[in-house]
Amino acid sequence: MEKLVIEGGVPLRGELKISGAKNAALPLIAATLLAPGTHVLHNVPNLRDTRTFLKLMEELGCSYDYTGTTLNVDTTTINHSEASYDLVKTMRASVLVLGPLLARTGAAKVSLPGGCAIGARPIDFHIKGFEQLGAVCTLESGYVTAAISDGLVGNTVYFDIPSVTATENLLMAAALAKGDTVIKNAAREPEIGNLIDMLISMGAEIDGRDSDTITVHGVKQLYAAENRIIPDRIETGTYLIAVGATGGEATITDCCPSHLPALLEKLRKAGFTLSEDESSLHISSPRSTEGRLLIQNTDITTRPYPGYPTDLQAQFMALMTLSGGASIIHETIFENRFMHVAELCRLGADIKTDGKSAFVTGKGEAGLVGAPVMATDLRASSSLVIAGLAASGKTVISRIYHLERGYENLVEKLTGLGARIWKER
Ligand code: EPU
Repeated sequence: MEKLVIEGGVPLRGELKISGAKNAALPLIAATLLAPGTHVLHNVPNLRDTRTFLKLMEELGCSYDYTGTTLNVDTTTINHSEASYDLVKTMRASVLVLGPLLARTGAAKVSLPGGCAIGARPIDFHIKGFEQLGAVCTLESGYVTAAISDGLVGNTVYFDIPSVTATENLLMAAALAKGDTVIKNAAREPEIGNLIDMLISMGAEIDGRDSDTITVHGVKQLYAAENRIIPDRIETGTYLIAVGATGGEATITDCCPSHLPALLEKLRKAGFTLSEDESSLHISSPRSTEGRLLIQNTDITTRPYPGYPTDLQAQFMALMTLSGGASIIHETIFENRFMHVAELCRLGADIKTDGKSAFVTGKGEAGLVGAPVMATDLRASSSLVIAGLAASGKTVISRIYHLERGYENLVEKLTGLGARIWKER
């Protein structure tokens, strides 16, 4: 199995280009199921998760052509309406086909995802939402089946917690429902705005973009269209933190700084200098007059957008292990998202956890020291990469297939910034 080897201690410098967002590409590919025809999506990142999603689309009867970052999906034919356990267990986002399949064909069957490395992650909000639009949902042999005999009918749906994929699933289902659907306490992540823009380009009628109350006025038919995936804000944040952790200076291009309000504020608080325009960011690191890296201890609490993203929690924790003081990291979205703590401690980090909180005592000048570690999930893996880049000596990360799910050309991009990083068998 492949491993990632890092010889740390090199400040990252230069320029790096951001790819399209994984968590926007997956719902936008799912949305193509709503209308027969050939849809065009630009800026689609070539990731393990996008390839898995395309495999699922093929199983449903669709065909595609994926050249460069442009994806043409032909959804004229759908002759199957099931997402199997084999696919769903490797990628929970497969659940996103439920809403569009139900709306277009009247039936959908998807394996229950089960728990994963970051928590239980149920899909009860999705199911409750479909039921409120009139679908009959049943759970049997590990699968959820949703069916409707005479079309979905709009209703008011309230989520207890703003859920990203439940909001997306309901938006897609409601687009073809009879009458109006109001989604209350909807998630407001930028990926949802990207999906709403795509649905509108397909002929949907939706009010309330970027707000927690979204109204969908159902239409009879949608049409194939051409759309663009937004830049990946989590990839952007990961590289900003990586540059900062190594005491480097870099320009990140093709990104959307306005999608990262909480991270940018926290990085400034931690002492970094940031400048931005509409699509690029420049970061430089705080140093003492003798040239020592001086990262300020800074607390974070993860929250739904526009709060601090849970998908950048592990990476910020890696940064805080290098600060000059104590910081507290609260994880409020997922119940088990501290799997990286034990691995970061193998590099010498001082972190204690208590329930949803992690207490980090920064190592300051002493820094981290490279060690063999194991990746446990996508974002935990990227925190290990950051720690390995900042640590002195060699870090070897195993189980790197997690990283390949969500970071396009990670090794090439980091090498371009001067990192000593490579894959080994
Ligand atoms: N929740 C429920 N029931 C539901 C749905 C959600 O209780 O039916 C709970 C979850 O357990 C969690 C909270 O609601 O405590 C919020 O979860 P959400 O549903 O928003 O997460 P998700 O839609 O499954 C997406 C991203 C995740 C990201 C979260 C939070 C995609 C494909 N995935 O997941 O991305 O962490 O939102 O922002 O968009 C990643 O990219 O590494 C990743 C895990």
